[in-house]
Amino acid sequence: MNRVNLVVGLQWGDEGKGKIVDHLAQNHDFVCRFGGGHNAGHTIVVDGKKYALHLMPSGVLNPKAKNIIGNGVVLSPSNFIKEMEQFKNLEGRLFISDKAHLLLPYHALIDQAKERLKGDKAIGTTGKGIGPAYVDKVARVGHRVGELLDVEELSSKIVNYFSHTKPIFDAMGIDTPTREELLEELSHYRDILKPYITDTTKLIWSVIDEGRSVLLEGAQGTMLDIDHGTYPFVTSSTTISAGACLGLGLSPKDIGDVTGIAKAYCTRVGNGPFPSEDLGADGNRLREQGHEFGTTTGRPRRCGWFDVVALKHAVRINGVDRISLMKLDVLDGFEKIKVCIAYDIDGKRVDYVPYDLEGAKPIYKEFKGWKSTKGVREFKDLPQTAKDYIESLEEMVGCRIGIISTSPEREDTIIR
Ligand code: GDP
Ligand code: IMO
Ligand code: MG
Repeated sequence: MNRVNLVVGLQWGDEGKGKIVDHLAQNHDFVCRFGGGHNAGHTIVVDGKKYALHLMPSGVLNPKAKNIIGNGVVLSPSNFIKEMEQFKNLEGRLFISDKAHLLLPYHALIDQAKERLKGDKAIGTTGKGIGPAYVDKVARVGHRVGELLDVEELSSKIVNYFSHTKPIFDAMGIDTPTREELLEELSHYRDILKPYITDTTKLIWSVIDEGRSVLLEGAQGTMLDIDHGTYPFVTSSTTISAGACLGLGLSPKDIGDVTGIAKAYCTRVGNGPFPSEDLGADGNRLREQGHEFGTTTGRPRRCGWFDVVALKHAVRINGVDRISLMKLDVLDGFEKIKVCIAYDIDGKRVDYVPYDLEGAKPIYKEFKGWKSTKGVREFKDLPQTAKDYIESLEEMVGCRIGIISTSPEREDTIIR
């Protein structure tokens, strides 16, 4: 049976999924996004040129790979159209699910207003409207991409929805467009997106049945998963392997190899618990050396050390076959490297991810650093202390590290 390959983030997002999906896309016919929206920021560097992708699958830089945006995605037409402008000849190699949900400008306004109202309890969302778009989907008042094919009716439905929600929108200081304004905006989206809208479930089934190779690209990371992350400091979608089935119309039996992406240290953007965060000089150094500033919002990322406990949780929940360890070179020059091996919660040693990570203190093991790994492409060429670090992580996490990345460039990748 032909099975699809899957790439998922194992930490709090920004692990380097884009680089690995682009790398693996060289050997795949289709690359598919299954969840999230333009909160994602996947950076790919090819021959020194940098691309920042948000909704577009990272297969787009490989002219041979075709790209699918699945039903699990929330799609902002205005943002996606801007993103499409970077690429030529997308027709015939980009397919958007008619069942994906539309993320419209009012979703972003609601997201920002709710964050403002939460004050110091804010989640620190990207402000893109992801939560409100998924809320509407689950509340069964959302609109799907397929509805763009009849903009007259869609405009009427949205205006009707505004008439019910007006008091709430007024309280949040949100102006809603008139039917005419909506019609003009939605017609523009339809004119551009129509050639790409299709039944992607049917498409992916036929691609699989023909024996062609398919790669699924996760967004965000396991610890941001709506069910299994650090709730409520999470995103609003299913970011783990299971989300790939939901977000494309696949069965669990369709999933083949699962590659989990993890940085050699850890970062998080936005609020919420992060036990191995380093608020001192080392954290700042990781941020500088790793250029840890958000691809989507430009926010400085919180930085800290590799968390074995969270990784074990992520490996189990995603069914990871091999880990791809990213940004090893960012640890170059550190004399000592810390790894969180357990948590101290109220004086008790905890070696699993508990109900609430708030207040969990890291218990560290220290490793000896190395001078340089930057650009290394063969495992044998790594410094011995870097090899020791990788092999210890493998042992502690209980999963093979099959890929190691040593720079943002596509080719600076060790395949073991
Ligand atoms: P994603 O959201 O998981 O796709 O990750 P992002 O693109 O948001 O963040 C990862 C960042 O690290 C990007 O700027 C990549 O170009 C960069 N990157 C990926 N792999 C490596 C690596 O091995 N070394 C270094 N120094 N940078 C890397
Ligand atoms: P990629 O795919 C890192 C975080 C936000 C915030 C929380 C909720 O690039 O790894 P949202 O706007 O989704 O409602 O915000 O989730 N977040 C991400 N952090 N990488 C991402 O995507 C993220 N997408 C959302 O910072 O803490
Ligand atoms: Mg990112």
